[in-house]
Amino acid sequence: MITVDERDKVFHLSNGRISYLFYVMDTEQLGHLYFGKALDKRGKYLHMVEKAYRPMTTCIREGDLCTSYEHLRQEYPCYGTSDYRYPALEVQGEDGSSISSLKYQGYEMIKGKRHLAGLPATYTEEDDEAATVEIMMKDTWRNLEVVLSYTIFRDVDAIARSVRFVNRGGGVLFLDRAMSMSVDMPDADYQSVQLSGAWSRERSVKVRDLETGITSVSSMRGHSSHHHNPFFALKRKNTTERSGEVYGFSLVYSGNFLAQAEVDNYQVLRVMLGINPFGFRWKLGPQDSFTTPEAVMVFSAQGLNGMSRQFHRLYRKRLARGYWRDRERPVLINNWEATQFDFDENDLLRFARKAKECGIEMFVLDDGWFGERNDDKKGLGDWKANRDKLPDGIEGLAEKIEALGMKFGLWFEPEMVNMDSDFFRDHPDYIIRTPGRDASHGRNQYVLDFSRKEVVDAVYGQMYELLSKAKISYIKWDMNRSISECYSAAYPADQQGEIFHRYMLGVYDLHERLLQAFPELLIESCSSGGGRFDAGMLYYAPQGWTSDDSDAIERLKIQYGTSFSYPLSCMGAHVSACPNEQVGRRTPIETRGNVACTGAFGYEHDLDQLSDEEIEIVKKQVAFYKENRRFIAEGDFYRLLSPFEGNFGAWEVAAEDGSRAMATVTRILSEVNGPYRRLPLCGLRKDQEYHIAGRYNSYDAYGDELMQYGLILEDRSSGSVTEGNGRCEDFLSVVYEIKAKF
Ligand code: DGJ
Repeated sequence: MITVDERDKVFHLSNGRISYLFYVMDTEQLGHLYFGKALDKRGKYLHMVEKAYRPMTTCIREGDLCTSYEHLRQEYPCYGTSDYRYPALEVQGEDGSSISSLKYQGYEMIKGKRHLAGLPATYTEEDDEAATVEIMMKDTWRNLEVVLSYTIFRDVDAIARSVRFVNRGGGVLFLDRAMSMSVDMPDADYQSVQLSGAWSRERSVKVRDLETGITSVSSMRGHSSHHHNPFFALKRKNTTERSGEVYGFSLVYSGNFLAQAEVDNYQVLRVMLGINPFGFRWKLGPQDSFTTPEAVMVFSAQGLNGMSRQFHRLYRKRLARGYWRDRERPVLINNWEATQFDFDENDLLRFARKAKECGIEMFVLDDGWFGERNDDKKGLGDWKANRDKLPDGIEGLAEKIEALGMKFGLWFEPEMVNMDSDFFRDHPDYIIRTPGRDASHGRNQYVLDFSRKEVVDAVYGQMYELLSKAKISYIKWDMNRSISECYSAAYPADQQGEIFHRYMLGVYDLHERLLQAFPELLIESCSSGGGRFDAGMLYYAPQGWTSDDSDAIERLKIQYGTSFSYPLSCMGAHVSACPNEQVGRRTPIETRGNVACTGAFGYEHDLDQLSDEEIEIVKKQVAFYKENRRFIAEGDFYRLLSPFEGNFGAWEVAAEDGSRAMATVTRILSEVNGPYRRLPLCGLRKDQEYHIAGRYNSYDAYGDELMQYGLILEDRSSGSVTEGNGRCEDFLSVVYEIKAKF
């Protein structure tokens, strides 16, 4: 998959569908040539290097009028030697100079892909699934070795990149900017697509035209955040969900990040992604090394849906890993929205019994089970059962739940502490705070300094104790505030710029240790809903709580946006009570079920509050999900109608072989005497006859008819509804099952 033209020093990565090309310049820097639809390997390619003599304001190389880094497309640009765009690398030496210049030293081909120690990353299971080339670069003046790693995957149209730095000199160096990837694309005629929002409205799809200057999204909150996601796409203006060219960029990381597109004054586009340089400074002593997180770049000529499918395939099978990767996820019930902190063992067992009756497979006990935790002011950090609520402890409760024939799951917030807790009283120095300054709290809690091994050890010790004694099959790992006053008491002044990243390494380490000790543990990540919903977390936790907003109509947007980069298998989605806790909206229970079942499904409900009729619906929903969950998790996902753009939210899951599909169509507000509507489907076999079963009607049609003429929608308008012919009200949703007839 990787060829090298040794004479022209051109590297061509191709899996037959996409190509990525770069070359070694005369100056020995690495230059970018091409990224996109596959090119045949016959070419010479160097004609793609565009150079011009632009003497005014340009700094050029002695004796070579056409070579200025300002005008050359590069792979990993540096600061200070005639390029005035933002660099991928900025490194300062003890002399105070931040100028660097990388020169090509050689390359190494690797079958498959190397593991990134301590960091989440995509992986291979067989060597021939991917090929990697590592390009050795060096700043000879500083003796800094820089290894640029590129992996191309055989079955997915993606390139994974990361960078390793080794200080081979005798002095100290400071990395002030070390992006995971950078690429200079030949034109800038794109729109950027980003996923932005805030708590309870995460990952709204925002599209804007690129213009000369910078377009960026970032986080400096210590976690990837509700506000911006470490993902963005660049699409052509005429690219839609179904067609056109698009590039997707995703960072496999959960901390501070920067995603930036810079259009220069010659319409060349520099794209970069990595740890946010703001607040970052990594000290590299002699022989020290540093590895960036991994960035994944995808190209699709099949529209935004095509891009998402590439991310989904890669992240589902070669980022998520372990025991749960390919297993059907249990249908769970979580007590949080029903009880918050106010419960005792009897309430929980009543909950679980009712859930069991409905076919639900796992009971999850959320916040409030430990220490003095009766509200959010106390107890965080004391991971021992509150015996007033749970007389037999977690062991006893877990046993009773297991005896009902259910699995038991438990909530933790490992990274946090209340000052009013035994843990804090024992270790007041364990929190992140800047000496001499007030420490801000968030939800009355403080952030434990996970950059310190002894802190991670202390939390691991408590969790290990509980997990090894009680039968706990799942944990919900929450994280409910951003980091402020970032400073670690354990590090000297010249390493304080490392703390945000070291904190993330500590979080990853705790995940890894727990998974090593309890390989069958299912972890669901959470951060006040979706505040750390990113590719980094997926490596440890194959599912995440998508948002604290559980209203089905709000979730149309949240799940639609999330699907741009993340597969359905990782989107925790639950049916919750009405009126909805967050927005007070009343939606039909069928709609809540339909929206939630295209995710990792569950309930957030006191089921005893439901009528007998509603309980029957719950039983059917659970049975439907169990029957279809593997197909939903593993099928190809297509967004059909955007809830950001109209009155409908619609999406489809289709089996990879086109043998079946399921379309979920939700109309937000009802309408009077509305139009006839059809919805063209995707991913079917054109010559195959299918049976389509909606809520009220069923019929047969061929794949080409369904994809070209469209699925006939059943959304009844008032005025067209007659007795027995459907309902008309706000928030109606229909699931259409489309199955090949044999
Ligand atoms: C925030 C989470 O997103 C909720 O689901 C719940 O677990 C609460 N924290 C508990 O404090």
